[in-house]
Amino acid sequence: MAPLPAAEEKNLVKNYFDGVGFERWRNIYGAGPVNRVQADIRAGHQQTINTVLNWLPADLTGLTIADVGCGTGSLTLPLAERGARVWASDIAAKMVQEAQNQARRCRSAHGQFLDQNIEFAVADLEDLRGMYDVVVCLDVLIHYPAPRAQQMLKHLAQCARQRLIFSFAPQTPFYSLLKKIGELFPGASKTTRAYLHPESLMTQTLSELGWQLHHRTQISTRFYFARLLDFTRPAGS
Ligand SMILES: C[S@@+](CC[C@H](N)C(=O)[O-])C[C@H]1O[C@@H](n2cnc3c(N)ncnc32)[C@H](O)[C@@H]1O
Repeated sequence: MAPLPAAEEKNLVKNYFDGVGFERWRNIYGAGPVNRVQADIRAGHQQTINTVLNWLPADLTGLTIADVGCGTGSLTLPLAERGARVWASDIAAKMVQEAQNQARRCRSAHGQFLDQNIEFAVADLEDLRGMYDVVVCLDVLIHYPAPRAQQMLKHLAQCARQRLIFSFAPQTPFYSLLKKIGELFPGASKTTRAYLHPESLMTQTLSELGWQLHHRTQISTRFYFARLLDFTRPAGS
C-alpha cells in the first residue's frame, strides 16, 4: 500500500468515523444487539478498557486525564465517574457528540451528571495542548503508519505529567498474516486502513525520551487484538 500524505490520511480517518464508521463503532461500543464478529470485538475492547481502569487508582479525584481519540466515551465515562477531570477529544465530531450525549445521561455515585467532570473537544490528538497527569490513547494508532504513530506518541508524551497509556496492533508474523487474509474479504475497502506496529519501535520512542515501561499486556480475542502499554515519566525528568 502506497503511503498517503499525512493530512490526507487523517482526513480519511475523520471522514470514516464521521460517516459509515460512526454507526458501526457506536453499535460495537454500545450494549445493543450486534453480529458475532462485532460481539467479539466488543468483548476484546471491553477488556482493554477494564485493564486500563485496573491500572489506575480507584479514586481519581484531583487527577487530570486526557482521553485522546475518545470515541463514544467508553473510557471517558468511567474515568469521570471515578472523580477525574477528563479532557475527551476526538477528530470525529459525531463520536464526540455521542460521548457527550452519554455523559449527559449518566450520573456519578454522588448524583452529579458525568459531563460536569468532562471537557469535550473535536480535535486532532496532535493539537493536544497543556499538561495532564495521565494521557490515554486507545485503539487510535492502528489508523496510522508507524512513523506517524511515533510522532503522535512523542507529542502525547510532552503533554503527560505522570503516565502515558496507549494501545496499538502489534506487528507479529501471525497478525501480519491475519491482516493479509482480512484484506482479501469484500468490505475491507469500506473500513479505514489498519497498520500493525513493531512493539520495539513504540517502546524505543518513549524510552529515548526517558520514559519507563510500567505495565504491558496483550489483549486478544478472535477478531480483536491490542498491545496495551503503560509508561511512567521518571520523577524529575
Ligand atoms: C477505534 S476508535 C477507539 C475509540 C476509543 N479510544 C475507545 O477505545 O473506545 C478510534 C477513534 O480514534 C479517533 N481518531 C482517529 N485519529 C485521530 C486523531 N488523529 N486525533 C484524534 N482522534 C482520532 C477516531 O475518530 C475514533 O473515534
